[in-house]
Amino acid sequence: MLTTATDLSDPELWSRDDLPALIDDLRGESAVHRTPTADDGPVWSVLSYDLAAQVLRDTATYSSRSGSLLGTGVGKVPAGSGRMMALSDPPLHRELRAPASPFFSPGRVRDTSPDIVALAGRIFADAVRQRTVDLVEVVSQLPLAVMCDLLGIPDSDRAMVVRVCDEAFLAPTPDRRRAGHQQLIPYLLQQVILRRADPGDDLVSAVATHRVGGRLLPFEDVVLNLDNILVGGAQTVRHTATMSLLALVQRPELWQRLRDGAVEVETAVEELLRWTSVGLHTLRTATRDVLLDRWRIRAGDRVAVWLWAANHDPAVFDRPHEIVLDRTPNRHLALGLGAHYCIGGPLAKAELGALFSAALRHVAVIEPTAPPQYHRSVINFGLDRYPVRLVPR
Ligand code: HEM
Repeated sequence: MLTTATDLSDPELWSRDDLPALIDDLRGESAVHRTPTADDGPVWSVLSYDLAAQVLRDTATYSSRSGSLLGTGVGKVPAGSGRMMALSDPPLHRELRAPASPFFSPGRVRDTSPDIVALAGRIFADAVRQRTVDLVEVVSQLPLAVMCDLLGIPDSDRAMVVRVCDEAFLAPTPDRRRAGHQQLIPYLLQQVILRRADPGDDLVSAVATHRVGGRLLPFEDVVLNLDNILVGGAQTVRHTATMSLLALVQRPELWQRLRDGAVEVETAVEELLRWTSVGLHTLRTATRDVLLDRWRIRAGDRVAVWLWAANHDPAVFDRPHEIVLDRTPNRHLALGLGAHYCIGGPLAKAELGALFSAALRHVAVIEPTAPPQYHRSVINFGLDRYPVRLVPR
């Protein structure tokens, strides 16, 4: 039984002008709906902040094991089920997350922050010299370079790794992205084999030499977890940065407030994370029969938590569809909540802050030269291309 015919997994819906009203109307009818999806059959869709938080906090009832994203297919589970941190539940989840956690701690991010700021500055100084650029390509350079540093990619391989990642994450068609990915995986495997034999102080070595229950992880699982981190690190920052810059171009008064220093960049980053919510949803599977609001969820049912909808819930956020740069408090769910809270959260905020600050420092005006091209995906919503002219300051 469906409670609405609206398929929230249709990426077209998320770029519609009437999206805010559509989501508000649905949430107004009920905070939970049974919705159709093209690939996964009917799923429960959670649209309110409070219920989203309830589901994300309760990993015993709402499991990530059978997939954390829509699109796998009815009755199918992704290859990394129970082997990747994103696709496991506590206590195994804690074990899989442990070797990577120190690399993303707030202290570690603080230490690397000056390098991130300097690199973002160089990227925008260079872009301004070129004048006419694709803003997506410009901002993508930062997360890719930061990921190469974290993974300890040798200097001699960097250009190749950035090129392959570019293809795997930025190529215009799914086929080309898949092909790029197929080049990346054997490279990661080779690095994992090398570093298990001769570990360094990088993320690859940490995951490659980590023991769960006294045993090293299979090579394939190490690669799966590193790939998960790489994908998470590269795509989301790019989409959040470009969607935010697009919004600021369309609202010059906000750009001016940031430039004047009327709002701290760190505070604005939180609001832009909330407002863009580029990770539109996250998925769970019920482990038992449970009542969610007034709905009886059966064991095995899939539950999609729509982070965008929760982050635009008027019960929690005043004027939720507006960008209020100095919004405080701002307890958004753009980076998730609970056990699976984004491991790269502090890093993502540092990168976004560095990118916005560099843009404000080097660019007087961003003039679009063609309409932006949306990356219409229900997994990461953002831009594939944003051709602009940068007027220097
Ligand atoms: C603006 C940027 C980012 C956004 C919006 C974002 C969003 C999210 C969200 C919503 C989750 C929770 C998923 C769930 O509950 O199932 C998550 C988890 C995760 N993110 Fe991010 N993320 C961002 C940046 C990053 C970065 C920079 C990295 C790594 C360098 C990263 C790596 C991961 C990983 C590995 C997980 C899984 C954590 C776990 O299952 O314990 N993300 N992210």
